[in-house]
Amino acid sequence: MACIVNFPALTNPNQPHASSTLSPVRCSANLSKSLASQLSFVSSFDHGFGSDASIRFHLKKSPTMKAFNSAVCGGSHIVASVKLEPPKIMISGAPASGKGTQCELITKKYGLVHVAAGDLLRAEIATGSENGKRAKEYMEKGQLVPDEIVVMMVKDRLFKPDSKENGWLLDGYPRSLSQATAFKKFGFEPDLFILLEVSEDVLVERVVGRRLDPVTGKIYHLKYSPPENEEIAARLTQRFDDTEEKVKLRLQTHHQNVEAVLSMYENITVKINGNVSKEEVFAQIDSAITNLLEQRKAASGSMAA
Ligand code: AP5
Repeated sequence: MACIVNFPALTNPNQPHASSTLSPVRCSANLSKSLASQLSFVSSFDHGFGSDASIRFHLKKSPTMKAFNSAVCGGSHIVASVKLEPPKIMISGAPASGKGTQCELITKKYGLVHVAAGDLLRAEIATGSENGKRAKEYMEKGQLVPDEIVVMMVKDRLFKPDSKENGWLLDGYPRSLSQATAFKKFGFEPDLFILLEVSEDVLVERVVGRRLDPVTGKIYHLKYSPPENEEIAARLTQRFDDTEEKVKLRLQTHHQNVEAVLSMYENITVKINGNVSKEEVFAQIDSAITNLLEQRKAASGSMAA
């Protein structure tokens, strides 16, 4: 009877952040569960996205496994097919640097699950819960909402099956060293950290002109990204923290915390010039993601060869 073997996690020692959980692996041999449990993976790899790869498994040198090895595998390797994990990406930047706008474009092309800490908090406020009420007090002051509210909210969302299956795009989290540390403790390891760099005068202009469509969730800007028609224009809303006065407080909070967060993700950070048009910003991001996926494909290909 063919046996499904689950290998819990594989880590590339050259890129310790690039760990992967394998989908069930179907061995092509008749294999009892006790034998299957003795299989060990001795190579390592960095994963590509959405593609299957051939991975070689060696057998432990126990007498039973030696016998199995020579009887079933002819003394060589079992070759198994695995589905590699989709990417996990973080996007960061000052208030109104364009994170949400770019997330729309990224998810459209790559199908990742967009998880925005600010959106989760606004949804909590809308429920009228105690946590929501507390969160709003901090958001109105342009301060970070306490970790005990935010951290679990983000963690729970990322543990949902769609995030695991499609990969995730985390927007506006972590925003402090304590959040980044908690994130790591939960076992979340991003593959790429995108940092949008935008000058301060541009940020203020973007905040005050931003409008949201409550029906589609689409982000507009009165000058740079105006609504398509009168009907949409009439229903646009403005966020309660999108005033010039409040954005200055939000910027202050951002500057106090950003360096500590960056230091955690230095080796996977790509800095993007966010001062240009949204299409030009996306072109830079698209190229960074393409590079990431190509590197992973090449690494998994050379490992399988
Ligand atoms: P959050 O909702 O995350 O707000 P933010 O970080 O201040 O970022 P924004 O959503 O304001 O901007 P964005 O970068 O997404 O820009 P957008 O694409 O919309 O957080 C709100 C609050 O929640 C925080 O202040 C905090 O209190 C709390 N919070 C959130 N996360 C937390 C956490 N982890 N821990 C604790 N508290 C947390 O673009 C802005 C405008 O510019 C739009 O109108 C858009 O159309 C326009 N635009 C975008 N790109 C371009 C471009 N290239 N050219 C011209 N216009 C552009």
